[in-house]
Amino acid sequence: MASLMERATSAPQTPGESPAACAPPRVKVVGVSKTFPTPDGGVARVIENVDLTLAEGEFLSIVGPSGCGKSTMLRLISGLTPVSEGRIVVAGREVTEPPPGVGFMFQRDTLLPWATVSENISIALELNGTPPAARPARIAELLKLLGLERYADYRPSAISGGMRQRAALGRLLAYGPELYLMDEPFGALDAMTKMILGRELLRIWSQDAKSVVFVTHDIEEAVGLSDRVIVMEGPPGRIKSEYRIDLPRPRDFRAVRLLPEFRDLCERIWGDIGRHSEAE
Ligand SMILES: Nc1ncnc2c1ncn2[C@@H]1O[C@H](COP(=O)(O)OP(=O)(O)OP(=O)(O)O)[C@@H](O)[C@H]1O
Ligand SMILES: [Mg+2]
Repeated sequence: MASLMERATSAPQTPGESPAACAPPRVKVVGVSKTFPTPDGGVARVIENVDLTLAEGEFLSIVGPSGCGKSTMLRLISGLTPVSEGRIVVAGREVTEPPPGVGFMFQRDTLLPWATVSENISIALELNGTPPAARPARIAELLKLLGLERYADYRPSAISGGMRQRAALGRLLAYGPELYLMDEPFGALDAMTKMILGRELLRIWSQDAKSVVFVTHDIEEAVGLSDRVIVMEGPPGRIKSEYRIDLPRPRDFRAVRLLPEFRDLCERIWGDIGRHSEAE
């Protein structure tokens, strides 16, 4: 543990700066703003001039108060919602529609209601071209991992919110995208399951070196998982600050919490969000 502590640092960065700026980025967000029409006929500015780079293989978390535009940022990157100003490039191509190789886990699970848990996962395997003969074993593996074996044949309406979230995570893992966009994926889970799935996500991420943008309200979760944490403020949504998380890898999602550097980072990020809330 001592060597872990020696290696841990916590320098804030300039917004937009990436730790692996030399490699071509997986995502580049340049001067992006987003407006929506309001019910009274006006226009609401929801995202204001955001610049952001996600390096290949980087794990980035976004935190910030409710309504500051975190989910909107993910939807813009996913191509599901068009930008109003600026541009977003994913894997070298400007985003005008959902790009290939991007997996989205929504804040509210979007399982197909008519399909069972197994079938929901199977459809993701079909989408990524897994041969039919290889699907049952992969489904069984994911159901075991997520503790859903007993619920394989249940429809989403007959399982709990936390189970639905796990099934949605199973579908994302089954699809196996290059870029994971995850909107509070562990929000409805109990502390123990969060810990298990956080570990599992880190294990999968470290094996496959996929790029992740992870939105959460849980600062400890963000610090425990990420290479970098961005604090947003708003509305309109802007990047307020950015923290490089130089805690060692491979990282034990639970043990890392004992490091003083971990606590220090969490406190500073909390302070950032708190100051914003007080100013409102
Ligand atoms: N389709 C839309 N039409 C109009 N306004 C929208 C739309 N989507 C988002 N907004 C507005 O954008 C703002 C930011 O919403 P967003 O869902 O991105 O916040 P958030 O940071 O994810 O919040 P939370 O932490 O509560 O999930 C809100 O004021 C919301 O009303
Ligand atoms: Mg949200």
